[in-house]
Amino acid sequence: MILSIESSCDDSSIAITEIETKKLLFHKKISQETEHERYGGVVPELAARLHAVTLPKILEEAKIYFKDLKAIAVTNEPGLSVTLIEGITMAKALSISLNLPLIAVNHLKGHIYSLFIEKETLFPLTVLLVSGGHTQIIEAKSYKNMHTVASTMDDSFGESFDKVAKMLNLGYPGGPIVEKMAKEGDEERFPFTVPLSNSPKLAFSYSGIKNQVRLQIEKIDKNSKKDIADICASFQKAAVSHLIQKCRKYFKRNEIKNFAIVGGASANLYLREKFLSLCNEFHIKLHTAPLKYCSDNAAMIGRYAIDAYKNGDFTALEDLKASPRSTF
Ligand code: KG4
Ligand code: ZN
Repeated sequence: MILSIESSCDDSSIAITEIETKKLLFHKKISQETEHERYGGVVPELAARLHAVTLPKILEEAKIYFKDLKAIAVTNEPGLSVTLIEGITMAKALSISLNLPLIAVNHLKGHIYSLFIEKETLFPLTVLLVSGGHTQIIEAKSYKNMHTVASTMDDSFGESFDKVAKMLNLGYPGGPIVEKMAKEGDEERFPFTVPLSNSPKLAFSYSGIKNQVRLQIEKIDKNSKKDIADICASFQKAAVSHLIQKCRKYFKRNEIKNFAIVGGASANLYLREKFLSLCNEFHIKLHTAPLKYCSDNAAMIGRYAIDAYKNGDFTALEDLKASPRSTF
């Protein structure tokens, strides 16, 4: 079995995964959303202190599996340095005390492997990763061969939902709240411009929509539920249309059979519906992870670690370091 740890942002999570069967034997996650809500976003220092309390609590429950462990896996990049260090320190302590090898896991690859929890892998696969920190298209040819072909020039998709929710005083994280409000709203009311729609470039940009929304919010009645819902619906339409337009470009240029959307924001059902239509149009099969594995979790880190273990990809104790940026 492999014990995996995730602490790249505001979720403390530990999982135990069986190497041969890929079965998830234990999985627990403690989110810090309520603690960060009043600040309208994640406060790194607070997040690190909370991980220092919650990770050992979860580990206590996983102790019964210690005797069967073959490796310790931990997210080491990308993420908030101070929170990554909490998970890494725990992983190193376990590695030394139980005499087990370490596996460093890239969080973005972990999100891709959320598709394969308790399942076989499926490659080649083109993946749209939409989370709080990232918006990118990744060509995942195999476990060893993954590269990014498009990314955001400024804000990420999930981050733009968080910022819109903050501007409307709706709470944190913004994604699920804005999606819920949007259901009641008129998406045609505010025709926000879709970014880079005339550009042939495969890239994303969300700072422009955010600014358009900010200017519109200044003009509406902030006590009107209808106005707020219309803003959310119109924003969500523009934000998703941007992803659709760029992926349509990608589909026209590349003949692919399998496409997946992963990351916290892939839980958005409006986004899933729009992508299902796009994929049907191009005769591409759309893959998504179960909703419970879209946001950050240690189960996806554990699933990636199985393939790392089988490929002998271990990291020496002195080489395991936290990095805020992704090295792939
Ligand atoms: O993958 P994740 O849990 O953490 C990162 O790696 O960033 O993603 C969290 C992000 C947040 O920005 C959150 O607002 C967004 O995903 N999100 C959503 C939805 N659910 C979560 N964005 C849009 N619609 C949603 N339903
Ligand atoms: Zn994530």
